[in-house]
Amino acid sequence: MFVATPIAAASKHDLYAELADQACGLLHGERNPIANAANFASLVWHALPDINWCGFYFYDGTELVVGPFQGKPACVRIALGKGVCGTAASTRETQLVRDVHAFEGHIACDSASQSEIVVPLVDGKRLLGVWDVDSPSIARFDSDDRSGMERLCAIFIHSLQ
Ligand code: SME
Repeated sequence: MFVATPIAAASKHDLYAELADQACGLLHGERNPIANAANFASLVWHALPDINWCGFYFYDGTELVVGPFQGKPACVRIALGKGVCGTAASTRETQLVRDVHAFEGHIACDSASQSEIVVPLVDGKRLLGVWDVDSPSIARFDSDDRSGMERLCAIFIHSLQ
């Protein structure tokens, strides 16, 4: 049984380093995308403070479809280029949104969300989907979260190979 040990990190950098180690251990030896996405979302949900939603949207060849997540029920389908998720998918660049109300076209799934980070999941040239994390606080995410989340997403993508 995998035991997620409580993380008492001195800094965000240390927190993400520890989380990356735990993600490697948790996903090791399993390639099923749903299983790994579900465990990944649960790991992050329990480790990161001040978030109200985290989870996956997977690209089905046409649009993004919600995958394993933690938090309140979310909108199911998002077109490429729409919302923060669709923008991350179409630009293939992480979207760091300090205030979701200032992001034109933001799709509100949970009215509590104030800030958001979305990392595109790209394997080589292939778009797999996006990883999305919402917070009830304005400006919850910074460049340390961006690099930490991108590292975690790289671990998730690698686990599928
Ligand atoms: N806010 C996202 C939609 C997904 S939810 O946050 C879970 C967006 O604008 O794409």
